[in-house]
Amino acid sequence: MTAEQREFLAGSIRTNGASENPWWANAVVYQIYPRSFQDTNGDGIGDLRGIISRLDYLADLGVDVIWLSPVYKSPQNDYGYDISDYQDIDPMFGTLYDMDDLIQAVHQRGMRIIIDLVVNHTSDEHAWFEASRKGTMPYADWYWWRPAKEGHTPGVPGSEPNNWGSDFGGSAWEYSPERGEYYLHSFSEKQPDLNWENPAVRQAVYDMMNWWMNRGIDGFRMDVITLISKPVEADGELPDGVPGEDGYANAQIVMADGPRLDEFLKEMRQQVFEGREGFLTVGEAPGITPARNQAITDPANNELDMLFLFHHVEFDARGSKWNPLPLDIVPLKRIMASEQEAVKESGWASLFFNNHDQPRVVSRWGDTTTEQLRSLSAKALALVLHMHRGTPYIYQGEELGMTNAGFTAFDQYRDIESLDLYKLRVLAMKLSTHDQMLDALGRRSRDNARTPMQWDSSTFGGFTEEDAASVPWLPVNPNKRIINAVDEQRDPNSVLAFYKELIHLRHTNPVVSAGGWTLLDGDDERVYSFERSLEGFDLSDTTELSRVVVVANLTGHTAHIPPQTAAALGLDPVAFPVEASGMSIDEENLLISNYPRPQTASTLLTGRLAPWEAFAYQL
Ligand code: GLC
Ligand code: CA
Repeated sequence: MTAEQREFLAGSIRTNGASENPWWANAVVYQIYPRSFQDTNGDGIGDLRGIISRLDYLADLGVDVIWLSPVYKSPQNDYGYDISDYQDIDPMFGTLYDMDDLIQAVHQRGMRIIIDLVVNHTSDEHAWFEASRKGTMPYADWYWWRPAKEGHTPGVPGSEPNNWGSDFGGSAWEYSPERGEYYLHSFSEKQPDLNWENPAVRQAVYDMMNWWMNRGIDGFRMDVITLISKPVEADGELPDGVPGEDGYANAQIVMADGPRLDEFLKEMRQQVFEGREGFLTVGEAPGITPARNQAITDPANNELDMLFLFHHVEFDARGSKWNPLPLDIVPLKRIMASEQEAVKESGWASLFFNNHDQPRVVSRWGDTTTEQLRSLSAKALALVLHMHRGTPYIYQGEELGMTNAGFTAFDQYRDIESLDLYKLRVLAMKLSTHDQMLDALGRRSRDNARTPMQWDSSTFGGFTEEDAASVPWLPVNPNKRIINAVDEQRDPNSVLAFYKELIHLRHTNPVVSAGGWTLLDGDDERVYSFERSLEGFDLSDTTELSRVVVVANLTGHTAHIPPQTAAALGLDPVAFPVEASGMSIDEENLLISNYPRPQTASTLLTGRLAPWEAFAYQL
């Protein structure tokens, strides 16, 4: 394909011209966790002014959309995912006027901004819940209230209405002496679940969403949206679920993909988005299968644009994430393939390894034992993810190859999930020993993703001012000395530079943004490889098939280019490992590589991949 053709196609995808694909089909989204991004007033907590001050960095990176984790008024029990006023900003982050400025500043730079929508639950300090707890009309029925189990004394352990368990440990029911009943909370007891069966609740949510859309935002990332429809029986009963190792049926599993989910999502689409253009809706979707993802994201069904599925970040554990297993790439490939296959014809995929709930991918599946391996493995993992078909999401610092926090003592952790699960697993139920849990937290705690953004090598990494009054709320990782934005901006071989190339490829290469996806050599234990192909677009009467072959050695050992991959590259696998026959390497066609180009060109002839070697080759 010529550069001209590429440009034409990229343009047509963007403007929805010749292609069916909407604007976000070649967009890249960047997630900001505001608490840890940039502090400007010296309180050690990131804020909206801080985000505004870093927008040029994001524009330079090339991302199209910014997703902001919650900045609403909140008691911060779950760091903002517990909202007490949907239509105000927490003073810790700034004001509504700062938010207006941010929206404007993002748009001025040609980017869009979506915000977190957390409506499976509110904070227990939200006015709706305070009224509901008192039984005040019309709010009495806005949450899930149930009496104690029949024949049991209210308020004592074992009397909860059913066996549902909170995702943060323990029962999902909390007793309210004030009301004499229990309320449901899928997460902490300070996050009561809203009752979506009540049409007034839904209307209040849609009104609030419209208020934000009218204020200028470009859409929403919808927190655990697939839990909003509870499996309620005709008589109002909420049936027990299958208990896990802690004796509870995890609320996230029980409630996933409930009976009225499609209906609620269609109603929301109609009430909030009909008649609007240029927006994006992405739903966090625990418990959704690839087939259901297809249905929910099929434009014909008028529900959501895309979902975050979790199978590919949950398979490397036994029982729960607190029993982590080392990476086995064969099941990873199988899961990613099933997610890709399901949306082949219609529907869409989102692509992510990281967010504010996941450990850093380079620590999880890469290699951080040396600086060279960290850089190579971060790039290899990035290449694999970004070359899939779908919309890639970058979580702040991922583009620098930021690592896990490296905490070694329990008192360093701040996240409610880590604190509660430690208490439950180690102290109450003895499911893990202290040492096991400390090891698991080091690998999986959400705090790993939440240490402050590493802007430079100074004491607090440029996140906040260097004076005693402004100690960051969570310690800056000491490796900011080498892993930081300033140094990486100067280094053409940095992880950051590599991400810029990946984003550029998605913007300019239609095979990457629109092409089909086929897994190659699914059983190979070292190499993750696949082919992208775009067929049948007609330009000046020539129809041609363009292909991009992506190859990544996801180990620190050398590996051989496996047979299907070799064939896709036009190599003769029989001639390996000595020399491949008949291939002429045009370095122009090497779209990207994490090794020097001449070295990867010779890899294409020998069939022998260096540790973590990863590249994309266009044919
Ligand atoms: C989502 C959020 C997570 C939060 C939970 C409850 O999973 O990503 O951070 O704790 O929902 O709102
Ligand atoms: Ca601040």
